[in-house]
Amino acid sequence: MTQIIKTVKEWRELCDSENISSKELGFIPTMGALHKGHASLIKKCVSENRRTVVSIFVNPTQFNDPNDLKKYPKTFEQDFKMLEELKVDYLFFPNYEELYPDNFTYKVHENSLSKILCGAYRSGHFDGVLTVVMKLLNSIKPGRAYFGEKDYQQYKLIKGIVEAFFLQTEIIACPTVRDEDGLALSSRNLLLSPEERKLALNFPGLLKANKTCDEIKFELEKVGFKVDYIEEYDGRRLGAVYAGKVRLIDNVKL
Ligand code: PAJ
Repeated sequence: MTQIIKTVKEWRELCDSENISSKELGFIPTMGALHKGHASLIKKCVSENRRTVVSIFVNPTQFNDPNDLKKYPKTFEQDFKMLEELKVDYLFFPNYEELYPDNFTYKVHENSLSKILCGAYRSGHFDGVLTVVMKLLNSIKPGRAYFGEKDYQQYKLIKGIVEAFFLQTEIIACPTVRDEDGLALSSRNLLLSPEERKLALNFPGLLKANKTCDEIKFELEKVGFKVDYIEEYDGRRLGAVYAGKVRLIDNVKL
């Protein structure tokens, strides 16, 4: 049985009464609409830790586009079933008031990596991500937390705040899980029309092509994407494109 916890106070009381220590605790933060990518993080966590906590919280402060927040897929019943099947011990499921008693007057702001790549196109996005992750790590206090390489810039920034603020959580990177045809799994894929899904398939293919970033950008635009960026960073090639109104990101190791 996966136990649902809705407040930080409830979680702290449970840790006290059941003697749950950070060392035995693995954590996967998510925004729900869970798919096989999330499941791979959860399976790794369950296999490496005595207890596993997953959080589901669609974090409004990281959405720079209000329409994107409104349309973000919500599939709670299905998500909960997956957590039970994967034998997750606890679901942390707070609301906005619980996580933001300050109404986002305090924030974690990074001033370098968060300004390039996705940060250059999504103003304030990483402030929202880093703030909510800091709140989650400080309240859950896991020994390990698992993040996907699919969101490589996010992973690097989270490694960075753990170092900068001496958080006692080990950050573990997990490889990108893809559909059989190569498209990286993403909750936003649920929003693609059948034609957009077909178009989307060109993205991972071109990203790993033996071409320059400019050539790849040109090819992507030619087949019908709007391209935010294709850039190389940290031995990887990263990109963000729009298939219709749906923004997709991906990256490959070079
Ligand atoms: P979300 O998009 O739900 O992703 C939760 C975690 O799953 C992230 O670490 C993400 O990188 C990982 N993930 C998503 N798709 C994946 C895939 N195809 N393969 C491997 N891992 C994948 O990322 C967020 O939520 C939020 O920004 C969050 C960190 C929860 C803060 O709100």
